[in-house]
Amino acid sequence: MTQLDLIATLGLESPIIQAPMAGVATPELAAAVSNAGGLGSLGLGASTVDQARAMMAATRALTDKPINVNVFCHKAAQFDAAREEAWIRYFAPHFARFGATPPTGLAEVYTSFLHDPALQFLLLAEQPAVLSFHFGIPDDAYLTAVKAAGILTMASATSLREAKALEQAGIDVIIAQGIEAGGHRGVFNPDGPDERLSTAVLTRLLVKKCHRPIVAAGGIMDGQSVRAMLDLGAVAAQMGTAFILCPESAANTSYRENLRSERAATTCLTPVMSGRPARGMVNELIQWGDAKDAPAVPSYPLTYDLAKQLNAAAVAQGNHEFAAQWAGQGAPLAREMSAAQLLRTIVKEMA
Ligand SMILES: Cc1cc2nc3c(=O)[nH]c(=O)nc-3n(C[C@H](O)[C@H](O)[C@H](O)COP(=O)(O)O)c2cc1C
Repeated sequence: MTQLDLIATLGLESPIIQAPMAGVATPELAAAVSNAGGLGSLGLGASTVDQARAMMAATRALTDKPINVNVFCHKAAQFDAAREEAWIRYFAPHFARFGATPPTGLAEVYTSFLHDPALQFLLLAEQPAVLSFHFGIPDDAYLTAVKAAGILTMASATSLREAKALEQAGIDVIIAQGIEAGGHRGVFNPDGPDERLSTAVLTRLLVKKCHRPIVAAGGIMDGQSVRAMLDLGAVAAQMGTAFILCPESAANTSYRENLRSERAATTCLTPVMSGRPARGMVNELIQWGDAKDAPAVPSYPLTYDLAKQLNAAAVAQGNHEFAAQWAGQGAPLAREMSAAQLLRTIVKEMA
C-alpha cells in the first residue's frame, strides 16, 4: 500500500509541524510557521465555538497556506462529589492565603469535541487543511464527513495499541507522542495501562508496525533532533515547547521567565493540574497536588477548574506558582526568536 505523502500533499517546504497548543498557540504563531514553510497549528481544545471561529478567521487573514486545527476528544467528566469535595478541601488553605473563597463544586470547564455538535459542524464548514485529534477520535460518521470534506486527519498515539486503533479508524497521519512531550499526554484512557515509551522508541515502533505516515513528537527542540526522527522513519516532527518563547506565542511573562530559567530543567508528568497526565514545569501547585498525603485527583477537566480558580486568585496577588506552564523535557533548549527565524534555524541545523 503506498502511503500518503504528507509533505507533498500539504505543499510544505520543511517537515516541521508547530504543535497545536491550547492557550499558547495564536493565529500569529500558526500563520508565521505556515508562511515560513512548516505547518502551523491552532489548539481549539479549550475554545468555545465563537472563539474557534474567530481564531480561524484571524489565521486566514494572515496566511493562505495550510493550517492544522486541533480538538480534544476526551470522555465526559466523571463526577464524584466526595472526590471533588476532598480536593477542594485540600487546596482550601491556598485559597485562604490569597484571600479567596474556594469553590463549592467543580465544573466541566471544557466540552469534549465528542459532545460539541456545533464545533463539529463549524470545522466541517471551515474545511481547514488538517484536523487533528488529542485524547481519542470522533465516531466513524463524523470521520467519514471529514474525509468527504477533503480534510486530512491526524491524531496523537502514545502506544502501539492506540496507533492501531487510529489506523483502523482511517486516520490519515499518526502522531507518535513520547513521554518527553510537553503538555497533555494524548492517552485515550488516563486510567488504563501506560507503557510510557520515549519518542524515539515509539516513533520507530509505529514506523515499523503501522501503515500510516508517522509524525514524531516529544522533546524535539532543534534540527539535529528532527533529523534523528526522520532517520527513524518519521515523515515530520511536531514541536511544541520549542515555539513557546517565540514572540508570537501567548505565553505570559512568568511562563517565559520560568522557561528561560533553571526551572526549565525540572518538568514532571502529573494529573494534578487538570485531571489528565500533562508535563509542565514544577511549581507550587504541582508540588502540593503531588504530595504523599494529597487526596485522589478528580476527573478531567474538573481538576482544571480548581487550578484555574486558584491561579486567578494567586495571580491577583502577584503569585504565579499555580499556573499551568506546560513544557517538555527538552525545555532548557528552547530558543527565543521569531517563529520564522526559528523555522529557518531548524532547517539549517537539519542539513
Ligand atoms: C504548552 C503546550 C500546549 C499543548 N497543547 C496541546 C493541544 O492543545 N493539543 C494537542 O494535541 N497537543 C498539545 N500539546 C502537546 C503537543 O501536541 C506535542 O505533543 C508536544 O508539544 C511535543 O513535545 P514538546 O513540547 O517537547 O515539543 C501541548 C504542548 C505544550 C507544550
